[in-house]
Amino acid sequence: MTDFTGKTAIITGAAGGIGRATARLLAARGAAVVVADVNADVRDTASLIREAGGQAEAVVTDVATDTGAEAFVRAAVEGFGGLDILHANAGITGGFVPRLDEDTATFLEVLRVNLLGPWIAIRTALPHMRQGGAIVCTASVAGLRAGAGPIAYSASKAGVVNLVQSTAMALTGRGIRVNGVAPGLIETPMTALLYDDARARGREDRIGQLNPARRGGQPQEIAEAVAWLASDAASYVNGQVLAVDGGLSAQHPFTPKWSL
Ligand SMILES: NC(=O)c1ccc[n+]([C@@H]2O[C@H](COP(=O)([O-])OP(=O)(O)OC[C@H]3O[C@@H](n4cnc5c(N)ncnc54)[C@H](O)[C@@H]3O)[C@@H](O)[C@H]2O)c1
Repeated sequence: MTDFTGKTAIITGAAGGIGRATARLLAARGAAVVVADVNADVRDTASLIREAGGQAEAVVTDVATDTGAEAFVRAAVEGFGGLDILHANAGITGGFVPRLDEDTATFLEVLRVNLLGPWIAIRTALPHMRQGGAIVCTASVAGLRAGAGPIAYSASKAGVVNLVQSTAMALTGRGIRVNGVAPGLIETPMTALLYDDARARGREDRIGQLNPARRGGQPQEIAEAVAWLASDAASYVNGQVLAVDGGLSAQHPFTPKWSL
């Protein structure tokens, strides 16, 4: 288990779900964390970390803006003396409307938050990142191939996959790695409607029925992957997007009678 003592991490989209789980895990392992979110509940994330003996500062801001990114980077540099880890994680679905019905404004907003946001975060954080630093973006299995999300969301996450590859290459020789995680279905505020609906209909067992793990995932399971990618244990892993999905994206659809 990596000790992050002496390191500073920024986690965007940390009011709940995967971002909060990652912030709590990194802080529990010694990192000072800046948690940023447009939702003021991000202050509760910082409080939970401090109550557990960790160091945390919350920044309430739209992280997909230059001023927002400058604010959370400043909080890390001025509050904790530098920056080692960036987890660009904030994201939105744009709503679950029928496919092909997504309007231009929604599509643009999804791209702004999910794709431009990580780029702004990377660009703003980079000049302050120490040698050996690590960036981890949250993509999605929806960005690996079709069928796991709305069109704008899926396209934005496919963009994140390439953003990881392109920025990793652009940083050749700089001593900073860029990787991503592609979660499968994870129980968070983003998917609460789906979980609530399944539970209300007594169909919770159907969640993850096509997944080899036969279940959805928990935020901590993504946080563990982020922590590993951000750690020196992954020092030779660069420009990769790791699917953390119980095996969902490893398979083609199959007819049960042909399965072994
Ligand atoms: N839950 C899943 O099944 C799943 C699967 C694959 C990928 N993801 C991705 O994981 C990431 C975290 O999502 P989550 O599942 O924890 O859901 P979540 O809704 O709890 O987390 C997303 C966070 O991003 C914040 N956010 C949205 N727009 C923002 C903005 N402009 N500025 C600042 N903060 C903003 C939200 O307030 C929220 O706290 C997202 O990028 C999401 O797309 C989630």
